[in-house]
Amino acid sequence: MNITNICCIGAGYVGGPTMAVIAEKCPHIKVTVVDLNEKRIAAWNDKDINNIPIYEPGLNEIVAHARGRNLFFSTDVDKAIDEAQLIFISVNTPTKTYGTGKGMAADLKHIELCARQIAKVAKNDKIIVEKSTLPVRTAEAIKSILDNTGNGVQFQILSNPEFLAEGTAVVDLLNPDRVLIGGETTVEGQKAIDALVEVYANWVPKDRILKTNVWSSELSKLTANAFLAQRVSSINAISELCEKTEANVNEVAKAIGMDSRIGSKFLKASVGFGGSCFQKDILNLVYISKAFGLHEVADYWEQVIIMNDHQKRRFSKNIVQTLYNTVSGKKIAFLGWAFKKDTNDTRESAAIYVADDLINEQASVALYDPKVSYQQALSDLDYLDTRTPAENEKYLMASGDAYEACQNAHAIAILTEWDEFKAYDWQKIYDNMLKPAFVFDGRNLLDADKMRAIGFVYQSIGSR
Ligand code: UDX
Ligand code: ADP
Repeated sequence: MNITNICCIGAGYVGGPTMAVIAEKCPHIKVTVVDLNEKRIAAWNDKDINNIPIYEPGLNEIVAHARGRNLFFSTDVDKAIDEAQLIFISVNTPTKTYGTGKGMAADLKHIELCARQIAKVAKNDKIIVEKSTLPVRTAEAIKSILDNTGNGVQFQILSNPEFLAEGTAVVDLLNPDRVLIGGETTVEGQKAIDALVEVYANWVPKDRILKTNVWSSELSKLTANAFLAQRVSSINAISELCEKTEANVNEVAKAIGMDSRIGSKFLKASVGFGGSCFQKDILNLVYISKAFGLHEVADYWEQVIIMNDHQKRRFSKNIVQTLYNTVSGKKIAFLGWAFKKDTNDTRESAAIYVADDLINEQASVALYDPKVSYQQALSDLDYLDTRTPAENEKYLMASGDAYEACQNAHAIAILTEWDEFKAYDWQKIYDNMLKPAFVFDGRNLLDADKMRAIGFVYQSIGSR
């Protein structure tokens, strides 16, 4: 089958950039991204390209180039489904907040709604591609809904997990380490896989396109994220030991990373990993392991999350202890709220949990992030449901820039590794703070010697 029309349901952090790159690289394919969220679609269609809803380096240029040519954003879900030969499902699958599997299992209600809508609308055979991060065997559920409620047309379900990292999404999509496509081992299944292979082959070398069965593909995605998260928790565990032993975690990371068997990436100690995938995927892994009675496997992976929670908690605890055991009424400047640099995404960001802890201690948190709005940060805190929205608004303060956030502050906490923080006039910031002026660098971003020479009491992760 030669694909000329693609629809993607879900115009979020995954669907938006992925479809933009497919459209850019495949001018012969019409790509329509649909979403129920009218505001989000309007933003994708905004004449001012700087207003598209997702910040990703390089994304504006690609959207500006392909939009209106063969890339379209729409709220007309039925029409896009009807016209497409291949449909990506890229909707959100948050961790369940209710019922069985609460706090662990993925909530698949959006996926199921998509499947039901496709079944209702489709009048000819279609290939359905799972793009969202999903628990293993979701494809089976999608297939069951499609086959039992559809109009008698044939569906092939493929798993094509997304490996892009936010902040580098465009580069990752343009030049992926690999593209993974899982499908049924039947003749029809193989044909569907080949159709999707041909789409990617427009810019990805074929030896980097892997074909597997559906279950391997689904499990590979969870496993990749679990391994990456495990590295971060491993180095974070060592960072606490470093603080006790006068070892320096950056030196340890460099020394072990030069061992080619270990490798140097994902060894940056931090205040804790965030993002929409790591925690959710590991929880999925833990949940299915438990469901199969594999308790040792479940406990093994759960420890990665336990360590990450500990790392966030001990960061806020250290701030309180260092500030003479009380932060009540004190102004603490937060530099960064996004879960990593170069994104405006805040899902599961360590900053949210650190702020929540400090506000429990009645600190005033003055926030500055180059790409995250005050309203977004407030709604992140509200989502935790620790206190009323009015109280959150009282304790979290907006700042026009970092200098304003740090003015008259008792301490600064660096939560995101934005490059611009390195270029600040730290002498000026120091001069305008209360003394002693504390900096808690949750990303080991700044030069410790320089900061101390200015006069700061500077603490980073994993060194004294
Ligand atoms: C991750 C996977 O990398 C990607 O392949 C998958 O498709 C989605 O999940 P993402 O969550 O966007 O991507 O970002 P990533 O770069 O993996 O970082 C996740 C978190 O770990 C961030 O909070 C980051 O700051 C933190 N991290 C990462 C560290 O603390 N130290 C490191 O060395 C690396
Ligand atoms: P991700 O990081 O996985 O891309 P996002 O939350 O950024 O997650 O994006 C998912 C998008 O999917 C949201 O914009 C949401 O409105 C959209 N969505 C969820 N369910 C449906 C549905 N049934 N039909 C269309 N869009 C949906």
